[in-house]
Amino acid sequence: MNLPNQNEERKRTKNPVEVVYLKQEEKTDELKNKKYYLKTYGCQMNVHDSEELAAHLENMGAIKTDILEEADIAILNTCAVRENAHDKVFGYLGRCKHLKEINKDLIICICGCMAQEEGVVNEIKSRHPYVDIVFGTHNIHELPKLIKEYNKKQEIEVYSIEGNVYENIPYKRDSKVSAWVNIMYGCDKFCTYCIVPYTRGKQRSRKSSDIIKEINDLVNNGYLEVTLLGQNVNAYGKDIENEMSFAELLENVAKTGIKRLRFVTSHPWDFTDEMINVIAKYDNIMPYIHLPLQSGSSRILKLMGRRYTKEEYLKLFNKIKEAVPNVSITTDIIVGFPQESEEDFLETLDVVKKCEYDSAFTFIYSPREGTPAAKMQDNISLLEKEERLQRLNELVNSFSNKNNQKYLNKIVKVLVTEVSQKDNNKVCGYTENMKLVNVLAPHDTIGKIIDVKITDAKSFSLDGEII
Ligand code: 5AD
Ligand code: SF4
Repeated sequence: MNLPNQNEERKRTKNPVEVVYLKQEEKTDELKNKKYYLKTYGCQMNVHDSEELAAHLENMGAIKTDILEEADIAILNTCAVRENAHDKVFGYLGRCKHLKEINKDLIICICGCMAQEEGVVNEIKSRHPYVDIVFGTHNIHELPKLIKEYNKKQEIEVYSIEGNVYENIPYKRDSKVSAWVNIMYGCDKFCTYCIVPYTRGKQRSRKSSDIIKEINDLVNNGYLEVTLLGQNVNAYGKDIENEMSFAELLENVAKTGIKRLRFVTSHPWDFTDEMINVIAKYDNIMPYIHLPLQSGSSRILKLMGRRYTKEEYLKLFNKIKEAVPNVSITTDIIVGFPQESEEDFLETLDVVKKCEYDSAFTFIYSPREGTPAAKMQDNISLLEKEERLQRLNELVNSFSNKNNQKYLNKIVKVLVTEVSQKDNNKVCGYTENMKLVNVLAPHDTIGKIIDVKITDAKSFSLDGEII
């Protein structure tokens, strides 16, 4: 075991990252007739990592179950971005513990970002001995080995130093039409509140040739949509000599002919004019950009280490809006960062009013051990933070609603992904602008892009019918 010590200056490997081409994983029957239950917390990166976990388990013969009580193996793929994610995992572990008292052979695994935290691993060792296997974000591909070697003693295999870039990773993709594709791992930005650079390690871009090959294969296999994934996608390539910029990568991926191309998440600091030109030029690059603001106050942005001011953010925002017709822009905002005054918060509301975001993910600041912000004096009461969050949400929701109303009676293209959870006579999917639509249409539209007339618009979704 080699645990990260978050109180020390983080050690980052100076050596260039090696690209390791894995051999195709063999199918075995070690887990034949066994059922696995996989619970995923957090961001799209985790969702995609879970597609890898599922592939490893199915290659060993296991079958997926959605019922925890039926499982022989339960895996919790965790998130560490905020404290409440941590609390949810430990709450859920209580359920797993109870099941293990009934079924002694149940194997309980914890992986993902929380497993990279020293405090969490110590807590598991001392207070949760019934957890069987713990592994981190840098050794997901070792799951088959960890299961094979498991001998009824708690096994903890977490690496503090990020590993290589692995290629030929198997994925059991959740969708047959829409795929996640990692273009990079880790993050070098070190925003002062954020734990990601510690849990995911330094930025490691994949080679553009490997990414484009994967996307060509997806196109050939009938995929209609690809979302390029990374914590800071538009810093792509900066860690490799002579590699393409993100704008060049985007252009090359657009040329593969994939019907819909998306990317998350962009950092405003790395958003170049070249990128804006490429997005405007290609019809298959979707008019939807997630552009985290975090705060509207230049003073707080500086304390957050975000590398832009309120004015620079607004300038970029307006440039994108002008260059890309009908673009939808969404954001992330944190309230209650240490020292955020009422005036600072009003600056955030001011940006929201100016940008009229299509939607925003809003959070109360959560101190994360080992980050610089956790050492800053947190001088705002919880009541105050909650009150700011509520005021912010009211404003954000009013703009979401206003933006959605624009679609009433319009015809939009929807990539249908599944049966609507609310109504079995409906299907649902996303528009080019990433609006969720519940559509009155037959189930055989799933997996297709259809024309839909919007009949009702709410704050968080649209209703429509196939035409
Ligand atoms: N507290 C609250 N929100 C956070 N985020 C990241 N770290 C924290 C934190 N410590 C939010 C940011 C980021 C999103 C994924 O989560 O807004 O963009
Ligand atoms: Fe965290 Fe900032 Fe990196 Fe995003 S860019 S993952 S907020 S450190």
